[in-house]
Amino acid sequence: MIDALSKAVFGTLAGSATLKRVASRYGMRGQGGFARRFVAGETIDEAIGAARAVEAQGLAQTLDLLGESVASEAEARAAAEAYLAMMPRIADAGVGRNISIKLTQLGLDLSADLAGAHLRRILARAGELGFFVRIDMENSPYIEATLALFESVWREGTTNVGVVLQSALKRSKDDLERVLALGARVRLVKGAYKEPAAVAYQSKAEVDDAYVRLMERLLRAGHFPAIATHDPDMIAAARRLATEAGVPQGAYEFQMLYGVRRDLQQSLRAEGFGMRVYIPYGREWFPYFMRRLGERPANVGFVLKSLLRER
Ligand code: 2OP
Repeated sequence: MIDALSKAVFGTLAGSATLKRVASRYGMRGQGGFARRFVAGETIDEAIGAARAVEAQGLAQTLDLLGESVASEAEARAAAEAYLAMMPRIADAGVGRNISIKLTQLGLDLSADLAGAHLRRILARAGELGFFVRIDMENSPYIEATLALFESVWREGTTNVGVVLQSALKRSKDDLERVLALGARVRLVKGAYKEPAAVAYQSKAEVDDAYVRLMERLLRAGHFPAIATHDPDMIAAARRLATEAGVPQGAYEFQMLYGVRRDLQQSLRAEGFGMRVYIPYGREWFPYFMRRLGERPANVGFVLKSLLRER
């Protein structure tokens, strides 16, 4: 229940234009900006710097240019252009070629065709440059449209792309079968969005149970699943299930967010597990940042500490 409450509180605050304005002015200011714990910077150069630092620790990464819920065709086009411009920069920098993207950033609120056209351009360029593209999953109103678009591009022969499923959502069991039928890669997460009880489990115990069930199916069915969680219990369950099913370490990977559980990122890597860090950057960091505060009390603590340090 605390989880649901915390998501609701930070979700409501995330809707405040005033808070966004004030936070955006100070959060990334200087090296001590309070959002820097979770957001690598506002520019591609800062993001590449963070990717280098992550890779120097033996971790893999995926870069995400922050942005979501765009309300105009011009913004959707600008986001697509930014992704197209970002890929050669990443390739030239010599860091891993893996990006994550949200469809509402490409105009899904305006029309699925618009978002689809931008996505196809990005995927085509990604194919030329050898990138893997992860389509992030957003809140429940977008799931069907996201999966449908994912299925279309996959059936068109684009396979350098994967999707995300959230264990908090009751529909994910069926969605998983849809994606497995394609043979596509899944990133499994618990889900950071505040969702109504009609579509989503509200207690941690139910979300965790669903996570374990989905993970078991995913590990057994193959296709290099990404177990994306900061929860030590889920990690322990993944390791146990993988061992039971005879799934080798190299057949799946763990994923965590930039700035979250850096200790666990390191210890799993040291044990030989694949660990990919999701590195977000860009000016539109406020909603992403608020989801981080809503999902883990410790994250609020980091931000308070850095605010106190600034004084
Ligand atoms: C989010 O934006 C990580 O995609 C996830 O909250």
